Amino acid sequence: MTPLISLDNVSVQIDHQKILYDVSLVIHLNQIITVLGPNGAGKSTLVKVILGLMPYTSGTITCLPNLTIGYVPQSINLNPTLPITVRRFMCLNSQLNKKDIFNILSMVKAEYLINESMHQLSGGELQRVLLAQALAKRPQLLILDEPTQGVDVNGQVLLYDLIADAKKQFNCGVLMVSHDLHLVMAKTDEVICLNHHICCSGTPAIVSNDPEFISLFGQHETSQLAIYKHHHNHKHDCCKQSIEQNKRIVLPSYRRKKQ
Ligand SMILES: Nc1ncnc2c1ncn2[C@@H]1O[C@H](COP(=O)(O)OP(=O)(O)OP(=O)(O)O)[C@@H](O)[C@H]1O
Ligand SMILES: [Mg+2]
Repeated sequence: MTPLISLDNVSVQIDHQKILYDVSLVIHLNQIITVLGPNGAGKSTLVKVILGLMPYTSGTITCLPNLTIGYVPQSINLNPTLPITVRRFMCLNSQLNKKDIFNILSMVKAEYLINESMHQLSGGELQRVLLAQALAKRPQLLILDEPTQGVDVNGQVLLYDLIADAKKQFNCGVLMVSHDLHLVMAKTDEVICLNHHICCSGTPAIVSNDPEFISLFGQHETSQLAIYKHHHNHKHDCCKQSIEQNKRIVLPSYRRKKQ
């Protein structure tokens, strides 16, 4: 597997607040990594650091030269006084002709929205258009920060299917932040459980049995994940080892900022 980007002991501190510490991970081509964690855990911060939108305090980030990244942010602010159609929105970051726009919107089942105003879209439609825009640059790495916010359950299932399809079509790596534990688990190669540091990581089956994961998300939520069997056809021990390596002890002096 080709590594696209790797983080080695990356920490982010703002005004004495440790937002992330000692985060190490590698994102490969053709791999879906899902980052789970409670509100305020530093998930969006991690995404912004990887995108180069936010500085990190220590550690190393290495990425493939000229890595193309498509990004779906956690939220966008559309100026209510500036009308913009889906077609024009699609062209904001990429040079696309009419056919390209139609094709990429078709990929996410949103071609019928091409002449609609961005302001009129439902939550699910908006997220599909944002995904289309991120895919328009044919990314090697697709990063999505809670792509199913404001989307009903059917829409969530559709979005996760579309993301998995996009991974196949573009042979890209995917890093996704999500709160939809049971929905993403079936589509994910690796789960990273983040609470300012990496509490545990590995395949969904392994992470869902990890005591730190259970204590973060609760027995009820995590028991739903037990239905997803571990289909890894090799090296269970290697997965366990990677979890051990990723365990971090919460620093006694560490305090989470109040929300
Ligand atoms: N630029 C900043 N300046 C100061 N504090 C920040 C900054 N960015 C993030 N934080 C703080 O870092 C913590 C983590 O924020 P972040 O947005 O990364 O969390 P998150 O895991 O994405 O949460 P959510 O699930 O609610 O989206 C929060 O306490 C937030 O207030
Ligand atoms: Mg966030």
